[in-house]
Amino acid sequence: MNDGFAIGHVRIHPRTVLAPLAGITSLPFRQMMKDKGCGLVTTEMISARALMYESEKTVKMLERTDSERPLAVQLFGEDPAVMADAAARVQDMGADLVDINFGCSVRKVVKTGAGVALMRDPQRAEQLLMAVRKALHIPLTIKMRSGWEPAGHQAFHIAEIAEHCGVDAITYHPRTAQQRFGGRADRSLIRELKNRISLPVIGNGDISSAEDAVAMIRETGCDAVMIGRAAMAYPEIFRETACLLDGKPKTPFSIEEHFFMIEAFVESLVAYHGEDIGTMLLRSRLCFLVKGLRGAVSFRKQLSNITSKKEILEQVRDYRDSLLAETLPDDVNPWCTTP
Ligand SMILES: Cc1cc2nc3c(=O)[nH]c(=O)nc-3n(C[C@H](O)[C@H](O)[C@H](O)COP(=O)(O)O)c2cc1C
Repeated sequence: MNDGFAIGHVRIHPRTVLAPLAGITSLPFRQMMKDKGCGLVTTEMISARALMYESEKTVKMLERTDSERPLAVQLFGEDPAVMADAAARVQDMGADLVDINFGCSVRKVVKTGAGVALMRDPQRAEQLLMAVRKALHIPLTIKMRSGWEPAGHQAFHIAEIAEHCGVDAITYHPRTAQQRFGGRADRSLIRELKNRISLPVIGNGDISSAEDAVAMIRETGCDAVMIGRAAMAYPEIFRETACLLDGKPKTPFSIEEHFFMIEAFVESLVAYHGEDIGTMLLRSRLCFLVKGLRGAVSFRKQLSNITSKKEILEQVRDYRDSLLAETLPDDVNPWCTTP
C-alpha cells in the first residue's frame, strides 16, 4: 500500500486526501496538512458563478503555493457552460486537478440544482461533466454521496456516467443527502462502487484514526482515503497513516512538536487573513487542535476573549509550558483521550 496511486497523470503519494471543508481548507490549513504528509490537498468548494464574476472573496480562495502541490480545486454549480468556464479558469490559475461537488446537501446549494441535487438529475450531470471535461487537460474528479436513498443506486448510476464522460477518479462519501452528517457512512457501498467501475475510488466518511484509515482501504479496496473532521482536530493523522501504509509503526510525536505546528498555523492564518479575521478564526480553529489534550477546556475558555495574535501566542505558549511542566508517569499520554 506504500506505492501511492495516480489520478490521470498526477501521482499521489501517500494514498491520503484532505477533504474539502468549507470555511476551513484555506491555504494555511492545507499547508499544515501537507507538512504532516497528506498526499493530496483540496480547496473548499468554490462557486463557479462567483468565480465568473471574479468576486474578491472567491479569488482569494484560489490563492495557492507550489509547496502544497498537487492541489485539487473543488467547484460547485449546476450550469454546464458556467462550470466549464470556471474549470478552465482554475486550470489556468495553476490547479493540478478539478473536483466537482456532487455531495453538498446544504439547502441553499441544493435548491439551485447544484451539489447533491445533481445526483437526481443524471441528464444534467452528464451535460455538465461533458462540458467540464472538454474544457480541461488536467484530471477531473467528482465527490459524491450515496444520493437520495440509502442503497446508493443513484451513486452507481452517476459513477457510470462519470466514467463515460472521462472523469479520472471518484470520491465517495456513502451517506444520503438527507443524512447530512448523521448516522454512519455505509462503507460496504464503497466496496460495491469499487467493484462496479474501473476508475480510482477515494473512500470517505468517519475515518477517526490512522488505523481506521488503513482499515477502510483494506475493507473496501478503495485506492485512497479522504479525511475531513478528524484532521481538523488531529493533523498527525496524515503522518501516522503514511507510517502504517509504509508498513512501519506510528512514530510518536511530542507536545513541543504539536505546539510548534500550532504556532506556525497562528502565524500563517493571521498573515493570510489579516489580524482581525485571523484572530476570530483562530478562536474556533485552535479549539479543535487541542482536542483531547489535558486542560483543553480551560484553554478554550481563555481563547474566547482574545483579540490579537500576540495574545493568542501568549496563551498558546502558556498552555504548552503548563503541559510540559506536568510530570506524568511514562505510560500516561498528555492526550488524555484518544484524539
Ligand atoms: C465544516 C465542513 C465543511 C465541509 N465542506 C465541504 C465542501 O466544501 N465540499 C465538499 O465536497 N464537502 C464538504 N464537507 C464534507 C467533507 O468533505 C466530508 O465529505 C465529510 O466531512 C465526511 O468526511 P469526514 O467524516 O472525514 O469528516 C464539509 C464537511 C464539514 C464538516
